[in-house]
Amino acid sequence: MFDSINRRDFIAVAGGVAMGSASVGGVAGQETPITNDNTGSEQNASSPDGAVEVEFGLRDGTPEYSISFDGDTLIEPSPLGFEFADTDALDSELTVTGCTTESVDETWEPVWGTTDEIRNHYNELAIGLEETNDPNRVLTVVFRVFDDGVGFRYVLPEQDAMDAFVITSENTGFRFAEDYTTWWIPDDYDSYEYLYEETPLSEIAPLDDQRENATDADGVNTPVTMRTADDVHLSVHEAALTDYAGMTLTRVDDGPTEFQSTLVPLPDGSKVKAETPHATPWRTVQIGREAGDLIESNLIVNLNEPAAIEDTDWISPGKYMGIWWEIHIGKSTWVPGPDVGATTENTKRYIDFASSHGIPMLLVEGWNVGWEGGFEAWSNPPDTFDFTQSIDQYDLEEVVEYGNQQDPPVDIVMHNETGGGVSNYEEQLDEAYDLYERLDIPAIKSGYVSEEGLRVDSEIYHHHSQRMVNHYEMATRKAAEHEIMLNVHEPIKPTGERRTYPNLMTREGVSGLEYENFREEGNPPAHTVTIPFTRMLGGPLDYTPGIFDVLYPEYGETRIHDTVARQLALYPMLFSGLQMVADLPEKYDDLDLFEYIERVPASWDETVVVNGSIGEYATIARRSDEEWYVGSGTGETPRTLEIPLEFLDGGPYVVAAHTDGAEADLETNPMDVESTTFLARSDETIHASMVSGGGQALRITPVSEADANPGELSEYRPPEYEYDTLLVPYGVAAGDPTVVSVEVTNPGSVVGGETLALYVDGEQVDSTVARVPAESERQIDFPLRLLEGGDHELGVGPAGEGPVLSKPTTVEPPSDEFERFEYREFTVPDQATVDEEVEFTVDVENTGDELSIQVLKLTVDDALVEARQVSLDAGASETFTFTHAFDRPGTYEVALEDLDAREIEAE
Ligand code: NOJ
Ligand code: CA
Repeated sequence: MFDSINRRDFIAVAGGVAMGSASVGGVAGQETPITNDNTGSEQNASSPDGAVEVEFGLRDGTPEYSISFDGDTLIEPSPLGFEFADTDALDSELTVTGCTTESVDETWEPVWGTTDEIRNHYNELAIGLEETNDPNRVLTVVFRVFDDGVGFRYVLPEQDAMDAFVITSENTGFRFAEDYTTWWIPDDYDSYEYLYEETPLSEIAPLDDQRENATDADGVNTPVTMRTADDVHLSVHEAALTDYAGMTLTRVDDGPTEFQSTLVPLPDGSKVKAETPHATPWRTVQIGREAGDLIESNLIVNLNEPAAIEDTDWISPGKYMGIWWEIHIGKSTWVPGPDVGATTENTKRYIDFASSHGIPMLLVEGWNVGWEGGFEAWSNPPDTFDFTQSIDQYDLEEVVEYGNQQDPPVDIVMHNETGGGVSNYEEQLDEAYDLYERLDIPAIKSGYVSEEGLRVDSEIYHHHSQRMVNHYEMATRKAAEHEIMLNVHEPIKPTGERRTYPNLMTREGVSGLEYENFREEGNPPAHTVTIPFTRMLGGPLDYTPGIFDVLYPEYGETRIHDTVARQLALYPMLFSGLQMVADLPEKYDDLDLFEYIERVPASWDETVVVNGSIGEYATIARRSDEEWYVGSGTGETPRTLEIPLEFLDGGPYVVAAHTDGAEADLETNPMDVESTTFLARSDETIHASMVSGGGQALRITPVSEADANPGELSEYRPPEYEYDTLLVPYGVAAGDPTVVSVEVTNPGSVVGGETLALYVDGEQVDSTVARVPAESERQIDFPLRLLEGGDHELGVGPAGEGPVLSKPTTVEPPSDEFERFEYREFTVPDQATVDEEVEFTVDVENTGDELSIQVLKLTVDDALVEARQVSLDAGASETFTFTHAFDRPGTYEVALEDLDAREIEAE
């Protein structure tokens, strides 16, 4: 029956590991059918705090569930069930045979992660169902209701009526109650490497530029995150995806907000082949009152099985450098030859740098045989990669030994790029992992790059198909057996397996930093303030931050769409058990700044989301022992975020802050970072002033543990500006350009970013973001032209709040000479061509009785385009010509002094 997969052989490979084993088919104690007196066809369960409620009901024998939060329905009654090959569907004509309930409140300690303790607190409702007709197959639906959401799954218990089965469709409905704002990527069965779209549910549709294995249905990959009109946030995903196909959500029958599960197919079109007892992954709905609640939620890991690995001492989250980015930007190559990056010498150079900065691991890509021909060659058959043979320029034993000799040592991370050749990899896995274990290799970065899918024997499988779900699990178990940590690229999406396999440290499955180099748009600033609320809900992500040279002009046209302060902030914002330090060693020349990266850990004891608005901004604070790291980022919009330090325990603490500098600008000056150090306590609020694409990174250390001398540091002062020396013009003529200036002092400990406004007679007429460095002053100028003569009051102050300082001024009416110039014959053509110069002429006569000098001002749509000084003797006249080119089509008004404005159309 397992026509295309020899499943028994495969499971034998996967199962032959001397570890505590996960339960058979993921069933964990629910392999027998439920039968008792509790046979009511309506059942419900609520979360320990009562806010989340699940209702289950049979409507004419068809099972349905719904979910509400704070009394509001989030998911309307939605169907449950399956379709099978060769047998009837199991989704109607059912009856309840019994129900069990259970309340669990336990705390467990992950080996590493976002927090050192996790409370697993839920109420469970398990419902036994049976077909009313022959062959009376049975099915159990289990709901776990947590304060932070719901998990539910199906169990097909052991039963005479069903042994081996083939699922052709799982029909789990998600009838969302309203047209929620949704952050989504398309339902690509092979790739998660997309930017997120933000649309209402009703506007989810295939993308023009989606890849070939994204479907033409209106579907999404999960996690898919939504916000209701009441600002409730929810995210649909799955937990414990084992021996099953990955799930996408697809729109049902053009229903604007009605979706259902679609399982990723095997090559023969079926979805899942298994035997009873068997459980599906948990279908999860995380729910929070704020976006950040989703990040703090542990629901996904809670729904996974406890660690299957008994001895975990060898698992050590940490940072790694790589002969990686230099290949991506074209400094060196994967392909062996004169420019290959993976040479013994270059590896030693990286090891030297890594050791001197305490970075414990180094990835070397292109080290092995098989890269000839580039991507087109190695992501297609014949599968050339050899996972034990080094290229000539690279001596594996020698670099491993060299790394060991350093103090502190640097370990090599092996790179296993399969190019999608899964059979080729599986055949070599044992030999390769044996070699790596012998060399004491701590980690492998694997890769499954292949646009069309993965090659097993002669067939192509989707990354998210059951066969590959099992492959990735098998590789994880094998790696554990050899005491090796894993970082998987082109993976399946994470579903919390790191609880069961704590050696599964991170994976890609995201548009990572490499996309900055793959496409001009790169990863726009909104991306890394979106993925913490979407992709990262599934688990850690190997985004690969840490670029200092964000422009790298010597290596081509692309760039990083972040400021350097933002690259630092990504370390606490983006969680990864193996966290990259991605830039080239020679680019880390600002060692004061690099100290932040040197010290930031990859695993945490506590996580607090301080600010969050998906795609707009985020502040994520994480603690390791006594030290906190706080990363803030903004999307396109410059802004100042407030960071109340309520998560601290009293104080004082030494805070090292790295913020976009006063001169920072994403386009022109992304490298400007302001670094300041000060003292702060838990009742303080720190300000993060950021430019577009910017960020702030804080390191917060208890005074007792800080290297800095607290006596030399001052207490935090907010960047609340003081204003001084307001200079206003006196005696300017009406209409003449002039300037109001003010001296702004920032007494604060960090750069400020207040929006200052110019007020004329109490009315705000102009504004500018004034970024003033910490403890500094700066003159801010407002250019203006006052058009009316007479007395005016000019003032400056925060935008929207009125002037703080103001002064009177008198504007002189237009001068007498003005009266004595006359303007005639103003010629403006009716038509112009965009970008081509047109001429306007005017005759000017000095009707006065003495020489006079005037400034002629030509305006287009009220904006000054030319001011020309004209001097004429008494009685003289002259024709003056102005030229102008319109840069866009449209109808414009051209005006000169007191003459009637003329219309001109540019095409
Ligand atoms: C894609 C991976 O994401 C990237 O990190 C790696 O360098 C290349 N494949 C080559 O293996
Ligand atoms: Ca990739």
